[in-house]
Amino acid sequence: MSLSLLLLLLLLGSSQTSHFMGTVMTFYPKDRSPDGSVTVVLRYKLNFHAFGGDTWRCFRGNCGSQSSLTLNRVSQESSAKWYQDEGVMTRQVLDRGAFQLWLSGAAWISNRNGISSWRAVTLVDLRNRSDTSRANASPQTTILPLVRVPSNCQRDFNLLAFDPDGDEVRCRYGNASLTECSPCTPPSVLRLSPSCTLSFGATTSSDEGPYAVQLVMEDFPRQTITLNQGGSFQTNITTNNAISKIPVQFVLQVDPAVPSCTEGLYLPAFLPPTPANRARLYTHVNQTLDISINAAATFSMVSELLFSGPHNVNQTRSGPGQFTLSWMPSQSEEGESQPICFIVQALSNSTKYHSELRCVIVSVGNDPSPSAEPTSEGPTPSAGPTPSVRPTPSEGSTPLSQPIVIRLTARISSVVALTEEDIRSTVVQQLKNELVKLGLTPSANVTLLGNV
Ligand SMILES: *[C@@H]1O[C@H](CO)[C@@H](O)[C@H](O)[C@H]1NC(C)=O
Ligand SMILES: *[C@@H]1O[C@H](CO)[C@@H](O)[C@H](O)[C@H]1NC(C)=O
Ligand SMILES: *[C@@H]1O[C@H](CO)[C@@H](O)[C@H](O)[C@H]1NC(C)=O
Ligand SMILES: *[C@@H]1O[C@H](CO)[C@@H](O)[C@H](O)[C@H]1NC(C)=O
Ligand SMILES: *[C@@H]1O[C@H](CO)[C@@H](O)[C@H](O)[C@H]1NC(C)=O
Ligand SMILES: *[C@@H]1O[C@H](CO)[C@@H](O)[C@H](O)[C@H]1NC(C)=O
Repeated sequence: MSLSLLLLLLLLGSSQTSHFMGTVMTFYPKDRSPDGSVTVVLRYKLNFHAFGGDTWRCFRGNCGSQSSLTLNRVSQESSAKWYQDEGVMTRQVLDRGAFQLWLSGAAWISNRNGISSWRAVTLVDLRNRSDTSRANASPQTTILPLVRVPSNCQRDFNLLAFDPDGDEVRCRYGNASLTECSPCTPPSVLRLSPSCTLSFGATTSSDEGPYAVQLVMEDFPRQTITLNQGGSFQTNITTNNAISKIPVQFVLQVDPAVPSCTEGLYLPAFLPPTPANRARLYTHVNQTLDISINAAATFSMVSELLFSGPHNVNQTRSGPGQFTLSWMPSQSEEGESQPICFIVQALSNSTKYHSELRCVIVSVGNDPSPSAEPTSEGPTPSAGPTPSVRPTPSEGSTPLSQPIVIRLTARISSVVALTEEDIRSTVVQQLKNELVKLGLTPSANVTLLGNV
């Protein structure tokens, strides 16, 4: 007992312990406070094997002062291959300028591309944008600590790259001269497109093993804009100037060949009503969003759902290959969009198989797109108690040419006066979420038939 404790202390004290499995950081600026300072909320994931931790520190510029930091476990693989923590850091910055935070330590888990130290940089710019009249928010994304692919299978990882300001998001590998990683050698087995798709081409057993993937995600304005620091301090930036940059780092595990790459045999296949990759879902403050995820495989057993997202996402399992992720945003997330990514893991002869990676973006508050406006056709629901709407999609798939019937079951969670408009917009939003989960793009013609 005392010996193992000593060993643990020695391991913790050693900067050479290999356990890092990547990080992601995103941020939202908050409104300016009366004293003129700006609050920025930074969320980050830290991934480790077995144990570990690290602290983001100021690298360049005026990073302001840290007013709060909370750390929580997001998820963990059952065999303890990895875990992911989420940190939420709030900083108060008086000077509306740009600054960089960085993470630096040793060492990554051993990998085929020879990355040992870990290093990551986030660029925050709090200047007022001329196009949005507010400071820039970073692209929103997340990723699991480890994604698997058998060496003989082709697979594309289409990373989530959602920008709250509507900017163009591009991905590139980290650059050592910008201290974005050290060293930055990309995995030889991946091809990266600027639109943030990582393509793995089928290869041989000689390429099997873990790779450290060290990406940088940046947002570019779609036209020349002015960044205003207050007073006469202005800078114009073009469509070639990134406004922010964030790290996206994780492990790609290339596994031994599988007898068949067809999804649904060894590799689990997603089934309806699992939302499509990069789907946009909507919910409100204090309202739980349920995301149903179904998957199946013939020659392996679906064993667990692995996910990354806000730490207060809950997971429930309702049957073989049937999972639900539930998330209830709090007041502080009003107007924000949070990323959730997931993979289903299956087992066969203690070999692990991953489904494709899917991610959704969950926007909190009213759907800003014009198609979100409820149409005035159809009966208007009568005012009543607060409906906590948990929609149930109809059975089977429905051809596009026919009306889609979605049954909604409402639970009364409290008795308060609500306007008809409140109920109508809640129901329309839930309907739209269901359509997205079915892989359809809701048009303006979302009509309510019957009473709510
Ligand atoms: C940002 O600039 C707009 C005008 O371009 C101004 O109306 C707004 O008050 C500014 N916001 C802040 C927080 O300075
Ligand atoms: C890395 O950044 C430096 C400095 O900005 C730049 O000169 C160089 O071209 C970059 N390297 C790559 C591979 O993009
Ligand atoms: C920025 O652009 C505006 C309008 O396009 C122009 O009037 C201004 O002089 C430019 N400022 C700088 C610093 O280039
Ligand atoms: C959400 O719940 C909290 C705590 O119960 C409450 O203080 C807040 O007013 C609620 N916000 C909304 C928009 O319902
Ligand atoms: C998640 O689980 C916790 C702990 O059981 C509970 O307090 C919370 O309300 C749950 N959240 C959702 C969205 O179901
Ligand atoms: C599982 O392992 C056994 C013995 O190692 C082997 O005979 C069998 O074919 C394997 N099954 C699958 C589905 O790979």
